[in-house]
Amino acid sequence: MTTVIPAERPPIDPYPLSPYVAWAGKRNRDPILDVFKTLFPPTGEVLELASGSGAHINYFAPHFKQHQFQPSDYDTDVFETIKNLRAEQGNANVADPIKIDLTKPETWPDPSTKLYDVIFVINLFQVAPVSIIDGIAQVAARVLKPSGFLAIYGPFKVDSSYTTESNAAFDKEILAANVPEWGLKDVRDLEQAANKYGIKLKQRLDLPANNFILVFGKA
Ligand SMILES: C[S@@+](CC[C@H](N)C(=O)[O-])C[C@H]1O[C@@H](n2cnc3c(N)ncnc32)[C@H](O)[C@@H]1O
Repeated sequence: MTTVIPAERPPIDPYPLSPYVAWAGKRNRDPILDVFKTLFPPTGEVLELASGSGAHINYFAPHFKQHQFQPSDYDTDVFETIKNLRAEQGNANVADPIKIDLTKPETWPDPSTKLYDVIFVINLFQVAPVSIIDGIAQVAARVLKPSGFLAIYGPFKVDSSYTTESNAAFDKEILAANVPEWGLKDVRDLEQAANKYGIKLKQRLDLPANNFILVFGKA
């Protein structure tokens, strides 16, 4: 069953198949797609981490017919939804989802099987510990082609400060849930942690609603 996308903003709920995540995905998918159109190589292999419902990967795939898309998540309960969306949209270039838990190296893809031109992850950091960057950067170090890039989308602080009032208000709302790992993370912490694995921040692109796309690559 496909998640119904509400017109009005529902209460924050990070469950990947929640109305809130569906609403946020509908709002951010076109701005992200516009950026990806400028960044993607003409052809290639694309891996999404923390795909959730698969709404993004299945939305992007028809715009990149020369690319092969690989969805993934640590929660295998979402796989059915990803596959249903793929079928609804007739996306022949989206593979079956694979389990990747960013905290468990034994689940990470094998570089001798495939290397990726693009790895992307959307809206994970505000509901995950900042240490999740270690997993993301190590996956990138392992399976990203030397010419490839890693794109991380979401709201972030920069140098311990909010870049806008609305990001401060959003963080306050998330922190009110009192879940220790929730809250906006700092771009500098991601950058420093990724550096340990030879993954460098190359660009910080501004997107609507005070989000960024952080573009990382191999050193
Ligand atoms: C807020 S949802 C966002 C889903 C999707 N990217 C989107 O924007 O609609 C966060 C996702 O991160 C996944 N996730 C959380 N911790 C993870 C981990 N350690 N490894 C892989 N995925 C994880 C969750 O299962 C969930 O699908």
